[in-house]
Amino acid sequence: MSKPQTLSVPGFLYGTAWKEERTPALVELALRAGFRGIDTANQRRHYFEAGVGKGLAAACGAGVLTRADVFLQTKFTYRPGQDHRLPYDSDATLPVQVAQSMASSLEHLGTDYVNSYVLHGPSSGYDWTEADAQVWEAMKEERDAGRTRLLGVSNVSLRHLEQMAAVHSETPAFVQNRCYARLGWDRDIRSFCRQHKITYQGFSLLTANQDVLRHPVVTGLGTQQNATPEQIIFAFARSVGMLPLTGTSNSEHMRQDLASTALTLSADAVRAIEALAE
Ligand SMILES: NC(=O)c1ccc[n+]([C@@H]2O[C@H](COP(=O)([O-])OP(=O)(O)OC[C@H]3O[C@@H](n4cnc5c(N)ncnc54)[C@H](OP(=O)(O)O)[C@@H]3O)[C@@H](O)[C@H]2O)c1
Repeated sequence: MSKPQTLSVPGFLYGTAWKEERTPALVELALRAGFRGIDTANQRRHYFEAGVGKGLAAACGAGVLTRADVFLQTKFTYRPGQDHRLPYDSDATLPVQVAQSMASSLEHLGTDYVNSYVLHGPSSGYDWTEADAQVWEAMKEERDAGRTRLLGVSNVSLRHLEQMAAVHSETPAFVQNRCYARLGWDRDIRSFCRQHKITYQGFSLLTANQDVLRHPVVTGLGTQQNATPEQIIFAFARSVGMLPLTGTSNSEHMRQDLASTALTLSADAVRAIEALAE
């Protein structure tokens, strides 16, 4: 399989959580709609990673695209985040679990590399622990062996990131977090990301911010721009430097989400949406 040295990160990631047996068809539909970034995890409890591989194979087989055109991202998930369907031997050491989980991901996805490999969440909600340090070093080995191009962390606090930066020579390429408007759209983490040249990936932009979708600032901008409130939120996310995720199962919403990349918001509009949190 060809291994592109670089594939630019697309403007949107299509999220594959909670789709179960619909995963292959929805991934194929998303790729046909124009998504070129796919987010999954080797966590059978919430994701059907092998179904992602099937959808990708179907799109490639139909000539929609090739593997090299797709930014594929998956995750390593600690034992407490998993159910009984484990992608590794839970008695093995953490570095071995990382290697086993990655091997299983590559098999599920039908590829010999992913574009991004993400730690699904630190082992403690408070500190960046010795376990996290071991896992991160093991993830770096996967990257150095060519099985992933880039590395990321998810569900992290500013404290996690600061502690991580203090003990490792390398910070992640990505932070993937749930983005709440009421927390200033994760302002502190986004600021850390800007300082360290980390791309911030935001999820639950719609589902975590239902009040914002109904706010007159957002609906008014939608009317002005002939766009839906959902499209305004995605355009806002991009304007402040986020890489948004969408998990839509609806083909019209896929089209709308992708079309939001063409919207331009004024600096005043961006400030007004940011200020909704205050
Ligand atoms: N790292 C983590 O721990 C973590 C946690 C959660 C999620 N994620 C990732 O993030 C992905 C996305 O999750 P999410 O929480 O952001 O989204 P989500 O829960 O999959 O839901 C997106 C929601 O927005 C709606 N929607 C999307 N586009 C729309 C549009 N244009 N108009 C109206 N409604 C629209 C969808 O409805 P329709 O289906 O009807 O369009 C759906 O209800 C997941 O699939 C997963 O890959 C990661």
